[in-house]
Amino acid sequence: MTLRAAVTLAVLGLSATALAEDPRQLVKLPAPAEETLRQEMRDNLVALNEIITLTVAGKVKEAGVVAEKKLGTSTMGQHRTKPLEARPGPHMPPAMHEVGRQGHQAATAFAGVAATGDREKALALLPTLNAACISCHLAFRVR
Ligand code: HEC
Repeated sequence: MTLRAAVTLAVLGLSATALAEDPRQLVKLPAPAEETLRQEMRDNLVALNEIITLTVAGKVKEAGVVAEKKLGTSTMGQHRTKPLEARPGPHMPPAMHEVGRQGHQAATAFAGVAATGDREKALALLPTLNAACISCHLAFRVR
């Protein structure tokens, strides 16, 4: 066997092991629902950065408005008008759905505090916006 073939085999073996050991639960979504989910996720990331940037800059009330509008409970059911196969929520196991709900609730709680303009309190709550993102990503995957 050439060295190159041996290295290739070793790398393939490693990645197969890594896949076998992935502890996240695989949630099979219909392709259109996966597309909706991933688009929403990329928007989430942008929203999170917008909220952090505004809060750090002292524009706390604006940060709260963005948090509610883009991540808060008012966004729940945002895909309701799409065909069922393009809606991520109904295809999620209950535990995954629940983490999603907690994320929306954390954003709404942040928005409530930010609406008072209290920068210290808003800063202290910033990490809670990320908590559900982390819990869900560590527990679930779609591919
Ligand atoms: C209820 C579960 C859940 C929550 C909550 C959640 N995500 Fe995700 N996210 C996922 C899943 C599932 C994927 C796809 C992982 C995979 O590829 O298997 C994903 C993928 C992503 C991606 C990659 C998108 C792409 O194009 O592949 C980004 C970015 C992301 N999430 C950001 C966030 C941010 C930021 C938050 C919090 C504001 C968040 N997510 C909250 C479940 C969640």
